[in-house]
Amino acid sequence: MKKNLLMYLALLTAGCSSSQSDFQSPQEIKRLAFGSCCKPRNYPQNMFSAIEKRQPDLFLMLGDNIYGDTEDMNLLKEKYQELAETPGFASLRRSCPLLAIWDDHDYGVNDGGRHYPKKQQSERIFLDFFEPGQQSPRSRRPGLYTSHLYGPVGRRIQIIVLDCRYFRDELPKTEWDHTKDYVGWYEATMNPELTLLGERQWQWLDRQLSVPADVRIIVSSIQVLAHEKGMENWGHYPHERQRLFGLLKKHQVRNTLALSGDVHFAEISKKNIGAYPFYDFTSSGLTHTSKSWPLAKNHYRVGKAVDQLNAGIIDIDWQARRFILRIIDKDSQDAEVHEIPFDELQFSKSEPSP
Ligand SMILES: [Fe+2]
Repeated sequence: MKKNLLMYLALLTAGCSSSQSDFQSPQEIKRLAFGSCCKPRNYPQNMFSAIEKRQPDLFLMLGDNIYGDTEDMNLLKEKYQELAETPGFASLRRSCPLLAIWDDHDYGVNDGGRHYPKKQQSERIFLDFFEPGQQSPRSRRPGLYTSHLYGPVGRRIQIIVLDCRYFRDELPKTEWDHTKDYVGWYEATMNPELTLLGERQWQWLDRQLSVPADVRIIVSSIQVLAHEKGMENWGHYPHERQRLFGLLKKHQVRNTLALSGDVHFAEISKKNIGAYPFYDFTSSGLTHTSKSWPLAKNHYRVGKAVDQLNAGIIDIDWQARRFILRIIDKDSQDAEVHEIPFDELQFSKSEPSP
């Protein structure tokens, strides 16, 4: 009788929640690490041990995790095998859980989107590498978006991982006229029909933002805020970026940050969405960086750009209720530090914190 009552209460509770994360764990997360853009052969691999020294609870790989750039799926597998055989990566993978998403080069084509003909095969190879033997929800649907929820009530962190490749429409290209400020070749589209995430992923994201959580991290392989340098970013789909901001506002999110990669240097950007200061923490360059791309304009940048090999660390200080964002270098030293109290990250400053 008592067992039946408990099951009923569990079902009732489940029914009250409009959605669930794909993966749930009671493990408390105090430190996240993330990085992107990795060439496993003939490039310095120090960043993996630099990250491991910081003993993160979870490591996020934000894409360009290998440089496949091919429709030859055997070659793509070989590139993943090179990563597997990189001692620093193998050691880091043993030391903490790993959650990954792809960007263009590991997807299979530079700046690629939904027209890449091998996307289903590439997705299978990605899942076999990062989630061997698992039947995760994302392995049963097109695209690699997913969400993980960690920690006990009061210290729950939801990590929402977006797929910016599988459903993405092509962007218009501009004339190749590079200046110090303009290092890419894209301009914003005015066509509201063009999508970055695709409708199915948008609907999923809307539901995910209703999952109860104390802290949320939104992972995007490409930059969400910085939009002036002509490289791929959300600002080139202004209607899609506005839709993201609208969803954050609709759900009155708290303590929510974005993470991104792709650009071969590190920076922290901030843009106010109404009263909410939204941060996009970019780390790119696990094995190679650019000295010139950080010189391009980004009027959302706070602090300095870091053009040496780097990874991102996010310390979640649950007691003092703040984030500490760190860009670390190959020696595991802080190259940039930025603190954000949770109290700042509210749409309505008058509301009490949860
Ligand atoms: Fe990329």
